[in-house]
Amino acid sequence: MSLDDVVLAAHATLAGADSAPGVWVAPGRINLIGEHTDYNDGFVLPFALPQAAHLAASAREDDQIRIVSVDLKERFETRLTDLAPNNDGWHSYLAGVFWALREAGYQVGGADLALASDVPIGAGLSSSAAIECAVVAALCDLYHLDIAPMERAKLARVTENAYVGAPTGLMDQAASTLCTLDHALFMDCRTLAVEQIPMDLNAAAGPNGGYAILVIDTMTRHSHADGEYGSRRAACEEACRILGVPALRDVSATGLPAALAQLPTAIAPRVRHIVTENQRVLDACEALRGGDLTRLGALMTASHASMRDDYEITEVSVDAAVETALAQGALGARMTGGGFGGCVLALARLDQLAAIAEAVTREFAERGFHTPVTFVARAESGAHRV
Ligand code: GLA
Repeated sequence: MSLDDVVLAAHATLAGADSAPGVWVAPGRINLIGEHTDYNDGFVLPFALPQAAHLAASAREDDQIRIVSVDLKERFETRLTDLAPNNDGWHSYLAGVFWALREAGYQVGGADLALASDVPIGAGLSSSAAIECAVVAALCDLYHLDIAPMERAKLARVTENAYVGAPTGLMDQAASTLCTLDHALFMDCRTLAVEQIPMDLNAAAGPNGGYAILVIDTMTRHSHADGEYGSRRAACEEACRILGVPALRDVSATGLPAALAQLPTAIAPRVRHIVTENQRVLDACEALRGGDLTRLGALMTASHASMRDDYEITEVSVDAAVETALAQGALGARMTGGGFGGCVLALARLDQLAAIAEAVTREFAERGFHTPVTFVARAESGAHRV
């Protein structure tokens, strides 16, 4: 049974067989490069995954919100008038969207929702953004709200920031909403200008065949990640105060040495990561457009080193996965997402993927890490109605 059928069946149990729901899907994402740059007004380059949140939804005449999670086998009910920011569990990511839309002045009523998702939780693949974006898409259609895609992403982010209380940037919600099939989404997080860049990893195929991105989920889930995320963000804000700039976006690569000289030693490496990472995203776009996968791979690996040494958001299992993938001949490898565990991407030839997956699995077993889960990434479409 497909996840669409699963949520339709769950919705029928919740709301009755004649409730005539629609189904909306919003994907998780992988960030190809550009980590922690979004809240610094910088650049990011994510693409959407086949793994997605699937939501069956129907409008109600009253102000009740009834939600069932198929994955957790849990049910939650509330009223629109009772909504207030909270982080009480999975349902906050759905109920918070009603709140965000109403705070922004949109007329939404109650709804019956059934959710199932195959985006792994805590893997750095934006399982929460997928849920938020699916609910935004559903409510826009059910309540005939004419909201442009980037505005939808911003409303989903309001849910995450102001309702659930996680101080994240806009990348995940923008990716889940705006990505298109076979493209990576370049986004300037200051102007919110976007460009769809074709992700044709086979265009550069040599005699040994094409390339692909192998995702290695280390299964490491860091419980302190939320606090670490906030502290990195605070360090960036502190650096801006000292440097007298609105955002670290305003520190250029050429201006970096002078900026670093003004900063305390605890903060300087954080700034170096952001400034060099922004440049790497621009270079990666150029490499992708020109089919230069060797350069793209080198940029990915440099990004990982910067996250490990300067931003200090990696940990032993992700570092081991990157090193093992590179030792097996990957063109590049890096952790993706907020950090402290989650997934590593390896850009490699198709005929190397199995050996990389095996080598990482062996290495993890020897070192007593979790058994990793691997899959080949495909760039999918953003949120849509089925
Ligand atoms: C999380 C946040 C994003 C972004 C990344 C790091 O996924 O939700 O906004 O900051 O971490 O790049």
